[in-house]
Amino acid sequence: MDTARNAETGHQKLDWARAHMPVHAALRERFRDQRPFAGLTIAVCSHIEAKTGVFLETLAAAGAEVVFTGSEPGSSQDDVVAALNEQAGVTGYARRGVSEGRLAELHAQALEHEPDLILDDAAELTARLAHLRPDLLEGLHGVCEQTTTGVQRIRAMVADGALRFPAYAVNQTPMKHEFDNIHGTGESALTNLMLTTNLLLAGKQVVVCGYGDCGVGIAHKARAWGAQVTVTEVEPRRALRAHMNGLAVRPMAEAAEIGDLFITATGNRQVIRAEHMERMRDGAVLANAGHFNVEIDAEGLAALAAHRREARDGVEAFQLPDGREIYLLCEGRLVNLAAPTAMGHPAEVMDQTFAMQFMAARHLLAHREALAAGVHVVPDTVDEEVASLKLETLGIAIDALTEGQQRFLDAWRTDDLLHGA
Ligand code: NAI
Repeated sequence: MDTARNAETGHQKLDWARAHMPVHAALRERFRDQRPFAGLTIAVCSHIEAKTGVFLETLAAAGAEVVFTGSEPGSSQDDVVAALNEQAGVTGYARRGVSEGRLAELHAQALEHEPDLILDDAAELTARLAHLRPDLLEGLHGVCEQTTTGVQRIRAMVADGALRFPAYAVNQTPMKHEFDNIHGTGESALTNLMLTTNLLLAGKQVVVCGYGDCGVGIAHKARAWGAQVTVTEVEPRRALRAHMNGLAVRPMAEAAEIGDLFITATGNRQVIRAEHMERMRDGAVLANAGHFNVEIDAEGLAALAAHRREARDGVEAFQLPDGREIYLLCEGRLVNLAAPTAMGHPAEVMDQTFAMQFMAARHLLAHREALAAGVHVVPDTVDEEVASLKLETLGIAIDALTEGQQRFLDAWRTDDLLHGA
């Protein structure tokens, strides 16, 4: 596909996303004149597809010089990248299907722009900057991190004494993880799994590895589609939650024997290993929704297999010596972003996630003098502001506390509680 045609489809995707991201429209309207990011270079590292594009446009409309790069080798879309690179104030370095080495080069190119602020996914650019460009640490005002793995990684940087700037844990805000991780990952992981395989969920034994936010979304939406769901966990309270929510909980070694479809969402490595694959049924399908492609041991699977072949676009079949076949989707990469049909999360949910990144960035910059190096919680007021904006765009009104209700909530004396005005 030539570049012009490429950019044309990219623009079409951006138009569609923009039409379904009303919170971003409201942010552009509100901050176009105020230009809170004027004079600043903001580097965004994420899955570069249409919703991310609308976010980048919104940062540029609020005055930022925006530079972007991909957070994962398989999740960016070249036509969207081409369309974004045609826009004023936005420059980027991302490509679909690059090697890990090429991804590092693209990150280095983005860092050449010497960002004042990084809005990151999985702490990819943050870690790269700390490694490759320590000279830029001094000028960096901070980082806003949007995913679970990234927050975990930035906390590891703190423990290692490597974090020299404030980082907002945007993933931990209710407006992000209670919607993006649960509903966004839940819906998009399953729809892409179904489109990539063209298989039915109803009646299937689905094994969900990890019952955190993403796992909860995947498990319950799979059950709503008629699947029988088993959860594997390592954390006792999460396992109990799955049990009391009516799901089966089993160790991986047992789940391996019954599953038709397996989806990992743990943010951990080697969750499905060769010892599990050896026990699987013929035709078992393996997919991953966690950030890194290390949750399923693809090398272990390759070592077990006597033959391997491309079964369909995005599906590789590994034939074991006894003839059983196990199917691995998208090389174990994020199924909702790297599958052939993948478009990532639905636009409405990314509207919230990126609005949180936007408002957290604005808050961090305004308060940067007071924020010490380390991981910070995004203030609840910022989260509530985005929630109110979202409700407004949905046309949903809610009640307000009466003065009497507020006094009741603030009281502790029995008399005030029972007889207060
Ligand atoms: P979380 O921390 O809420 O949940 C992870 C769960 O996995 C925890 O309950 C943990 O106990 C469990 N776990 C860890 N090791 C395990 C093992 N060996 N076996 C079974 N369970 C294990 O994390 P969250 O928010 O659910 O995110 C999970 C991953 O998904 C992260 O890598 C995150 O970055 C990624 N993510 C992917 C998205 C996508 O678009 N596909 C969107 C949002 C997050």
